[in-house]
Amino acid sequence: LPRLLFLCPGVDPGRWRRGFARHMPELEFVPATAGEAETPPCDYALVWRPPAGALQDVPDLRAVFSLGAGVDDLLRRVRLPAGVPLVRLVDPALTELMVEYVVHWVIHHHRDFARYAAWQREERWRQVWPGQTSERRVGIMGLGELGGAAARAVAALGFDTAGWSRTPRRIPGVRSFHGPGELPSFLARTDILVCLLPLTAGTERLLDARALGLLPEGARLVNAGRGGVLVEEDLLDALESGRIAAATLDVFREEPLPPGHPFWRHPRVQVTPHVASLTNADTATAAIVANIRRLESGEALTHVVDVERGY
Ligand code: NAP
Ligand code: GLV
Repeated sequence: LPRLLFLCPGVDPGRWRRGFARHMPELEFVPATAGEAETPPCDYALVWRPPAGALQDVPDLRAVFSLGAGVDDLLRRVRLPAGVPLVRLVDPALTELMVEYVVHWVIHHHRDFARYAAWQREERWRQVWPGQTSERRVGIMGLGELGGAAARAVAALGFDTAGWSRTPRRIPGVRSFHGPGELPSFLARTDILVCLLPLTAGTERLLDARALGLLPEGARLVNAGRGGVLVEEDLLDALESGRIAAATLDVFREEPLPPGHPFWRHPRVQVTPHVASLTNADTATAAIVANIRRLESGEALTHVVDVERGY
């Protein structure tokens, strides 16, 4: 019978155990126990924030699954045994939450609802025409599972939508930009910038003073990818100069966002605590089990990470 090692320190295994029992009753669920000298032989491992160097000596591993979509932290902590694929989490429920988050904040910035919240505190009644949706230029960085779905949803609302990715992506209603060469023209046409990039050697500190300076005056930023993509000091400067009018940040260089960090109380920064999307054990186990069944019936796994590329 196949065995799955659950190696997610700090994550309650209960819901995961129940999820796997429901979707693959024949799978033996083996929670890793801290301090255990040797890991038992397991066919699969489900991991999140594992201890550094973990998995190196697990015998018989066939595939490693990430509990989250982003694998930057995992790749920093573990070196996978040769030939063992790492699979990132792709789950329609995860995508749906991210789409809601992006749509919510794009509309929030387009309509400048923060202004009315401020005016309410002054008992001020004033109406401002927000501008036409079809003329509001939204730009999504990263057009993968999450960015692609977000771009489709934003385009369906009627926004002038573009996306930027490493390779060209064809999405109806979404203008495609790709590669470093097209980044300046993508940024120059973007009023509301949404970042859904993974953190890799190619994206780290990509949103720096230079990139932010290419946005039109008064642009808005939503970062729900990874904090390391953004140079936080450069965003603070851009907010100060007015280049960026407001930002919504869900991810940070250091999480939890440290006490006293300037983002906490910045009047034009909305902080959310890495909740743009959240992994749900029941739907995620269904997605992982579908992939295990694929492997067990001799088919190729889907959503395998290219470790060299970093995503
Ligand atoms: P994905 O399907 O792998 O898509 C990644 C996208 O980024 C692809 O379009 C890729 O381009 C593009 N990209 C990667 N490196 C690039 C580079 N150097 N230049 C330009 N484009 C680049 O990933 P996903 O499932 O959509 O997830 C994206 C990220 O969202 C995750 O890595 C994670 O960090 C973050 N996330 C955040 C939350 C949250 O709650 N805040 C939740 C889940 C995930 P190609 O299309 O050309 O490959
Ligand atoms: C969360 O950020 C994830 O990567 O799933």
